[in-house]
Amino acid sequence: MARRGKVTVVGAGFYGSTTAQRLAEYDVFETVVLTDIVEGKSEGLALDLNQSRPIEGFETLVVGATTTKEGGGYEATAGSDVVVITAGLPRKPGMSRMDLIEVNAGIVRGVAENVAKHSPNAVLIVVSNPLDEMTALAQLATGFAKNKVLGQAGMLDTARFTNNVAEAAGVEVGKVKTLTLGSHGDTMVPVPSRCTVDGKPLSEVLPADKIEELVTRTRNGGAEVVALLKTGSAYYAPSAAAARMAKAVIEDSGAVMPVCAWVDGEYGIEGVYLGVEAEIGAEGVKRVVEGDLTESELAGLKEAAEAVRAKQADVQSL
Ligand code: NAI
Ligand code: 2OP
Repeated sequence: MARRGKVTVVGAGFYGSTTAQRLAEYDVFETVVLTDIVEGKSEGLALDLNQSRPIEGFETLVVGATTTKEGGGYEATAGSDVVVITAGLPRKPGMSRMDLIEVNAGIVRGVAENVAKHSPNAVLIVVSNPLDEMTALAQLATGFAKNKVLGQAGMLDTARFTNNVAEAAGVEVGKVKTLTLGSHGDTMVPVPSRCTVDGKPLSEVLPADKIEELVTRTRNGGAEVVALLKTGSAYYAPSAAAARMAKAVIEDSGAVMPVCAWVDGEYGIEGVYLGVEAEIGAEGVKRVVEGDLTESELAGLKEAAEAVRAKQADVQSL
């Protein structure tokens, strides 16, 4: 099998380490680099992952590197094709993603600047929260073309919506299609008009009040996990989402996925990072895909755009 390319995952916490595992197990990359500021953490996890290779049957090499805020250790990441930024604090019960903005902005800005120095041609996939704001900040800090910086949220929120619908309808997840757009926060826009169960519109399968309940549960999907875990946030579904995006980049697949992408004119929305469907390939976002929405869904998307626009402007000074 021809393996190619180098993907770096910055931050070897729960999200980063599970993302590195998924990326290595795909066996499509030559190298997966995992970094963290905690001395030895990435090296230890990389060794552990490499030792799983004979059992899981993959050859991708995982390299661990300890980095410093000043940029030490980033040589190990040099020339990456894709960089996934997971560095940052997760929330605790009762916290909103927005409560993380100041501390995570400092972390993401520093990481992005160091990444840009060593991997000037990389596609950046940001996952640190608050997601829409951290994606905008990473683009500013790197100066990369806007299509080369994207954020992961929509894949996760859509997967949560799908899982919720499948459970409620009593069908396999593979029979359900759903979609969420907007922000990865209070102005998330689950899109029931684009949802189907076994090819039938969701509105023919479940009553309106049940659909509304599932929409609300999807919006609160992250908080539901945080409340149960009590410390830290979700990582299995989030890492699955980020890893699929990185795979689409290295394979230049053109897969259409809901992601946080730069929107400039689509849906009548100008100049903001927002959750939309986009075609993903070697250059990041190939194009934003505009789908049909009901009037109220479109209004929700425009409201989300204005909410994140205001916060994305604030983040420039952090
Ligand atoms: P975690 O606390 O397990 O890991 C964070 C890691 O980042 C730690 O190992 C820490 O040492 C490292 N780190 C901190 N500063 C760093 C720096 N300057 N350079 C390199 N590494 C650094 O947290 P977890 O669960 O991995 O979550 C990471 C981030 O992802 C959080 O901000 C969380 O809110 C976010 N998240 C986003 C989701 C999304 O859908 N976009 C879903 C789930 C989590
Ligand atoms: C999630 O949605 C906390 O953003 C994180 O699980």
